Amino acid sequence: MKKDFQIRLDATLYECWEDLPADYRQLILEARKATDESYAPYSQFHVGAAILLADGSMLRANNQENASYPCGACAEQSLLYYYGTRAKQSPIVAMAITARRAGSQEFIKITPCGKCRQVMLETYHRQKQAYVILLEYGKGQFLSLPSIEVLLPCNFNPEVLQENNP
Ligand code: THU
Repeated sequence: MKKDFQIRLDATLYECWEDLPADYRQLILEARKATDESYAPYSQFHVGAAILLADGSMLRANNQENASYPCGACAEQSLLYYYGTRAKQSPIVAMAITARRAGSQEFIKITPCGKCRQVMLETYHRQKQAYVILLEYGKGQFLSLPSIEVLLPCNFNPEVLQENNP
């Protein structure tokens, strides 16, 4: 028997800066700061990410490129691997991602690449708690997603690995 179904994408669009809650604004500003500190001489595409922890603290990181292009690291992965190096940290409640092109002050639309989504998914399973993803969405808008799960449906995760282990 064949069964069709749909996978929902729950999201909230904030149409301007003033619509954002105060803590989200702080987090976006932290991600933008990371964007300004990014090392992207080859793509000229600067990406920053910041996380808000349950204890109220924030961490930020950015993309780090390399003359050997595949050796570069995305902002989200730089940040989550850095966060992950310290085992008993306060859980992440939200992550913001921002981007701009070199030479421009305008922040532009960014959505995490596939590999970053998989890394973000692992963090979700590791802390067993969903965290909000806040994306710079161009034209002064922001997209908020309740969990990485909505950005990576039908994903490979620790439960799938477990189920298929004899
Ligand atoms: N990049 C990120 O940092 N995060 C993403 O989710 C997409 C792409 C970086 C990688 C590379 O340094 C530059 O953006 C252009 O692809």
